[in-house]
Amino acid sequence: MNLAADIAGITFPTCIMNAAGARCVTADELETIGRSRAGAIVTKSMTREARDGNPTPRYVTFPHGSINSMGLPNLGYQSYVTLIPHLKTFKKPVIASVAGFNPDEFLEIASAIDATHPHLIEINLSCPNLEGHPQIGYDFEAAAHLLNRLRKVVTCPMGTKLPPYFDPVHHDHMAAVLERCRVDFISVINSVGNGLVIDPDTDTTVITPKGGFGGLGGAIIKPVALANVRAFSLRLQGRIPIIGVGGIETGQDIYEHLLAGASAVQIGTAFVEEGEHVFDRLEQELAAVLQKKGLQSAAEAVGRLEEL
Ligand code: SIN
Repeated sequence: MNLAADIAGITFPTCIMNAAGARCVTADELETIGRSRAGAIVTKSMTREARDGNPTPRYVTFPHGSINSMGLPNLGYQSYVTLIPHLKTFKKPVIASVAGFNPDEFLEIASAIDATHPHLIEINLSCPNLEGHPQIGYDFEAAAHLLNRLRKVVTCPMGTKLPPYFDPVHHDHMAAVLERCRVDFISVINSVGNGLVIDPDTDTTVITPKGGFGGLGGAIIKPVALANVRAFSLRLQGRIPIIGVGGIETGQDIYEHLLAGASAVQIGTAFVEEGEHVFDRLEQELAAVLQKKGLQSAAEAVGRLEEL
């Protein structure tokens, strides 16, 4: 079974990779992904300075989901400038995820990272866990302004990770921004921001930062993720490839992301819970689903969703 994917002219040996989230911060963690069956190495979103992130507890699972408010713990972009050439020796695409606290920081980081020639750069416009810093992806004008500036300095394929949208008009606006700014790919969705989980035994929130509000992940967000993949797929019509993220626990979940229009997928919560063996399992499960459907490749499933 051919599970390869093509995103913005870059070939991925399989369409299943980690999401820029947990377990992709340190050299050890990134090397582990390099040695695994993951189809790419995606770094944690890097900021200008190294960050410890938010106070703990900041990641908790609950039935069918997870909540996190990590606060972008990472080594700072200079460390990734050093690491990226080494990560490329694993012979799979390296996606560098970039975040900043203002446009100039995004520019500084993206320029320095671009000079190391990762295969792709993913601009994170959607972290919900930074007190006082709203998700840029919800401000269409600010997002367009930032992406336009970045487009002028980033020479490798540049994509953006978006938050979930809940209204078709917002999908229209963002799709127009993406085309205008010549974005090469999108990753949808980041966690569903600012959810709240309550511990039934203690009557308290389950995480400390931001009064307990955090990004939701895991199975419960799959319908929101699929809706966003589909909504952007209908608008972009293959002109900008989509990486589906959200709620993937099984090969069937990946197949549904492909049907909705994703060319590849990223795994967050399930990778945190299972470790790198999740990529082997998902690969086998996806191959079995595709075979059952009579398909020879993952690419054949992309966008095949039919409406009733
Ligand atoms: C975090 O570090 O808070 C999560 C990353 C993200 O949502 O982009």
